[in-house]
Amino acid sequence: MIRRAIYPGSFDPMTNGHLDIITRGSHLFDEIIIAVLNNPAKVSMFTVEERKAMIAEILPETENCKLIVEDFSGLLVDYAREREAFSVIRGIRAVSDYEYELQMALMNRHLESRLETIFLVASPNVSYISSSLIKQIYNLGGNIDGLVPKLIAEKMKS
Ligand code: PNS
Repeated sequence: MIRRAIYPGSFDPMTNGHLDIITRGSHLFDEIIIAVLNNPAKVSMFTVEERKAMIAEILPETENCKLIVEDFSGLLVDYAREREAFSVIRGIRAVSDYEYELQMALMNRHLESRLETIFLVASPNVSYISSSLIKQIYNLGGNIDGLVPKLIAEKMKS
């Protein structure tokens, strides 16, 4: 049986922190679906299509794990049922992430008892990175090199 996981998120944009989690997850699963949330109600820097295209270009090399990039809308549990993937990967950077992540994990499990959330702890060298800080720093003229893949930094500048 294929061990398949979903790594859901906004990924607006994908950062080196997300890539670290994908690499870690690739050692645990045969297949990871990187699922970009399609939420028209949320103001974003990149469209879902742009995000997916960028992610597809910067995916890390993995040994025995297939990486797939998709988008989803609606509830994560419905998407998990549709894809028959009941392991959800989420990265934890600091204790502050935990409360919200715990609530989501429990709510998702309430909605779908088969769904398990697997928390992966981010590497310390990327644990202070977040997409929202990246956007803020970029918008205020700060340097985002080394925090996001080169391609993302270039796309943001263009
Ligand atoms: O990268 P983010 O913004 O932290 O990701 C949040 C995400 C996409 C995982 C979460 O908002 C989500 O799953 N949204 C889909 C709607 C849903 O299922 N909501 C109930 C969650 S308990």
